[in-house]
Amino acid sequence: MKNEKIIITGASSGIGFSCASLFAEKGNNLLLLSRNIEKLKKEAAKWEKDFGIRVDVYSLDVRDYQAIDKLFSQLPDFWNDVDILINNAGLALGLEKIWEGDRTDWDTMIDTNIKGLLYMSRFVVQKMRARNKGHIINIGSIAGTQVYENGVVYCATKAAVKFISDGLRIELVDTPIKVTNIQPGLVETNFSIVRFHNDIKRAEKVYQGIEALSGNDIAEIIYFVADTKPHVQIAEVTVMPTNQASPISIYKK
Ligand SMILES: NC(=O)c1ccc[n+]([C@@H]2O[C@H](COP(=O)([O-])OP(=O)(O)OC[C@H]3O[C@@H](n4cnc5c(N)ncnc54)[C@H](OP(=O)(O)O)[C@@H]3O)[C@@H](O)[C@H]2O)c1
Repeated sequence: MKNEKIIITGASSGIGFSCASLFAEKGNNLLLLSRNIEKLKKEAAKWEKDFGIRVDVYSLDVRDYQAIDKLFSQLPDFWNDVDILINNAGLALGLEKIWEGDRTDWDTMIDTNIKGLLYMSRFVVQKMRARNKGHIINIGSIAGTQVYENGVVYCATKAAVKFISDGLRIELVDTPIKVTNIQPGLVETNFSIVRFHNDIKRAEKVYQGIEALSGNDIAEIIYFVADTKPHVQIAEVTVMPTNQASPISIYKK
């Protein structure tokens, strides 16, 4: 796969950054979106030079519909024919029972994981339908099919990602446009640091005693999914570390 035009949300870290790095190395053009873009801009300049590709980086909060609207109205024409959208921006916040949960954490998860993904999809799918080509790749989670205590709202947002993916696939069934939902288990990224509001020690414990997946492991799977023949649509991928069997069934040495 080469010379494709790919949008990645949440490209500043973890899975999104790994995807950007791999798709760049393979010779694809990238439109990278995140709130923190200083580090990403430096990488982008390096990738453009090393791989002869175009990498545009914009600061964007996917919760902000007006900002997305403005971005799409101002984008260079080059981005009119986007081939792939990777809806990756997302987060979990907190680990509490519903009656103890922080309402602002809930709002942030719902606004980012569900509404942000919907907003981005609305703009990009319109363009994909106009040219009858494209692939939406959503980053869901095993939490979207198996709920666990203290993480109910996060799980509910990822269940929404599963249903949005399934529904969009149905709505696009008479087109060549593909929809994939990637559902990872434990991936060692900034995810737990964000979840525990920067309590790094607590975050580290999540990955102690188990070889978790890396962002690069997920990027390789996403690349495989994106590189299938036009008539092959991988609808879902569920991937976990070998020592994980469900969100709470985890063997640790
Ligand atoms: N790590 C896991 O175990 C795991 C498992 C299953 C699914 N996932 C999912 O994988 C996706 C990526 O997470 P990760 O593990 O790579 O975590 P990460 O390292 O914390 O990366 C999250 C990315 O999302 C971006 N982001 C967050 N809120 C945003 C917003 N409002 N607007 C734009 N970008 C935003 C962050 O960028 P900025 O802060 O710069 O905006 C960052 O680039 C998420 O959807 C997550 O739910 C993760």
